[in-house]
Amino acid sequence: MFLKNTWYVAAWSHEITADGLFQRNVCSQSLLFYRTADGTVVALDNRCCHRHAPLSLGRKEGDCVRCMYHGLKFDAHGLCVEIPGQNAIPAAARVRAYPVVERKQWVWVWMGDPARVDAALIPDTVALDHPDWRYKPAYLHYQASHELISDNVLDFSHLSYVHEKTLGGATAIAATRPKIELLDNGVRITREVRDAPLAPYFRQFVRMPAIVDRTWIYEYLVPGVLLLETRATARQAAAGEADFMSLLSCQAITPETAGSAHYFFMQAHSFARDDANVTEAIYQSVMAAFAEDKRIVEAQHALISTTPPAEMLGLPFDLGVVQFRRLMERRRAAD
Ligand code: FES
Ligand SMILES: [Fe+2]
Repeated sequence: MFLKNTWYVAAWSHEITADGLFQRNVCSQSLLFYRTADGTVVALDNRCCHRHAPLSLGRKEGDCVRCMYHGLKFDAHGLCVEIPGQNAIPAAARVRAYPVVERKQWVWVWMGDPARVDAALIPDTVALDHPDWRYKPAYLHYQASHELISDNVLDFSHLSYVHEKTLGGATAIAATRPKIELLDNGVRITREVRDAPLAPYFRQFVRMPAIVDRTWIYEYLVPGVLLLETRATARQAAAGEADFMSLLSCQAITPETAGSAHYFFMQAHSFARDDANVTEAIYQSVMAAFAEDKRIVEAQHALISTTPPAEMLGLPFDLGVVQFRRLMERRRAAD
């Protein structure tokens, strides 16, 4: 059901502390994350191979974790290295260890065949650690399938309606057809709207003319990674007003179960780089706007999953959605 041979974002780096045990479900697997003494992140099946107690209720002992039910101890490769009162350790005494890469503030986990691991497949999330950009990291838990959340970010026509008073502010966004290009590993979408009001939320942190050209350029990559640039350009700016503004955003949608998901995101600015109020205002704006997405997508998910199945109506709006869903189907078939 889930694409397995791919990298999923499992956590922000700061969520996995030097000493703690951190549990999170990815693709319906309960995973335990922790750091070894040199800081390397480990991901193990969270289920002790003995009586299936969660290792996340265990105790970290050096680079190992001890199950605090009957005391089996596992190393960072998932091998059992101690069974109380017993010298021989059976070969089956082990839990699965998952390949992990920590890169630019995100912790990526590979849920598939370890023989097919390739760190070069991890998307380049430049804005996450570029010295010119500032942001505050954000996370939302979704009670909705990851497919519905992907559909949402693949079609920005919803900005006009879901985000009418926040990120939208113009029906012209929905009335404009984006350019959609198919990539090997996703889609690239460019939406340009000329002579539109600046997004209402942007007025909190940038002084620009009321009417600007607005552009969104983004890639949405398998299995659910969004790399977005949002631009506003003014053809004529008065004194004290900016004539250009750009924000960079990295977002990742990771299935928790078939009907729930993790949403990691940030929106970064390079203007007013040293003004923490601007960073905070952008963070608050995005959190408020993404609560609008969450409200409608969770309601959509609840409705779909509690009423009889029915066909959806396909419209030209959905080109990006359809292209990406087809790509995911091909990738799942090849899995
Ligand atoms: S369930 Fe873990 S040691 Fe028994
Ligand atoms: Fe949205």
